Amino acid sequence: MQFPGAHILSVEQFDRADIERIFAVADSMEPYALRKRVTRVLEGAILGNMFFEPSTRTRVSFGCAFNLLGGEVRETTGFKSSAIAKGESLYDTARVLSGYSDVICMRHPEEGSVAEFASASRVPVVNGGDGANEHPSQALLDLYTIQKEVRAKGGSMDSLRIAMIGDLKYGRTVHSLSKLLALYDRVEVALVSPQELAMPEKYVETLRAAGHKVTVSSELSQSISSVDIVYSTRIQEERFASKAEADLYRGRFRLNQAIYTQFCQPNTVIMHPLPRDSRADANELDTDLNQNPNLAIFRQTDNGILVRMALFAMILDVVDQVDKHARDVNWYHNRDLNELG
Ligand code: CP
Repeated sequence: MQFPGAHILSVEQFDRADIERIFAVADSMEPYALRKRVTRVLEGAILGNMFFEPSTRTRVSFGCAFNLLGGEVRETTGFKSSAIAKGESLYDTARVLSGYSDVICMRHPEEGSVAEFASASRVPVVNGGDGANEHPSQALLDLYTIQKEVRAKGGSMDSLRIAMIGDLKYGRTVHSLSKLLALYDRVEVALVSPQELAMPEKYVETLRAAGHKVTVSSELSQSISSVDIVYSTRIQEERFASKAEADLYRGRFRLNQAIYTQFCQPNTVIMHPLPRDSRADANELDTDLNQNPNLAIFRQTDNGILVRMALFAMILDVVDQVDKHARDVNWYHNRDLNELG
């Protein structure tokens, strides 16, 4: 695809060559993400960060990524502080805010809403999550992490074995990740969820059409016994009609150190898009895994900066200029992306 000026709305826009280009640019961002060097390549540019659903890492890491490229960030969070609460349409909001920004990141609870917004925007729009539909930048950072983790253990993306666990019906990260996995060869995918929260058939079909082996189950221990990656997800309470309905499924699939030791292979990598629900009745990824070196959840979040910097540099067509506008930092820094579990 042509990245300069493009909206990023769905992972369906990417082919495997596009993914490799994004990941190569992400790799090149490491000195800047680590604050070893500073670049001003996007000096004068403004990111409009519009999040109409709660977010910690997507909103903040998009903002940090833009700042690290030298740009500035303006934010709107929640409907109540936006004129949408006064009845303003997405069309008008897009026309207005795209006059104030050079690129916009948006999260919205309704499927298709970010695409609707983008159709009226005068600047590129990046989907930060639209309802249960897609979360393309999360899927890219997940895939980037998977590739790094399996390569570090001598494996490869082709012939990957992955278990996706939890709320596969409403979890947009697994929807986008499934579409990306369909670009690879001979992947084995174990889908583990309560029957009522099973992966929608269209995503299962996409995986099967790619020739992948897909198993569907409501049983955890067997499904995690021979995989490279365990990808756990939270019950997406905000998509249910009531808390009581979400409570029916919360805590159904819990991974802790004892279960990991008993059923997983010693090298199995543990991932989660976060937030993990650490309340006692949920706890799908126990904190007793925090010292497990195969817990990659904070490597995922660190990688999110690299991938989002890459997307901005590619969309705004400055990849070749990043280093030209760079210098070493002159303040204390001591960061290592690999020091966290
Ligand atoms: N993974 C993710 O989307 O996290 P946030 O909801 O905190 O942005």
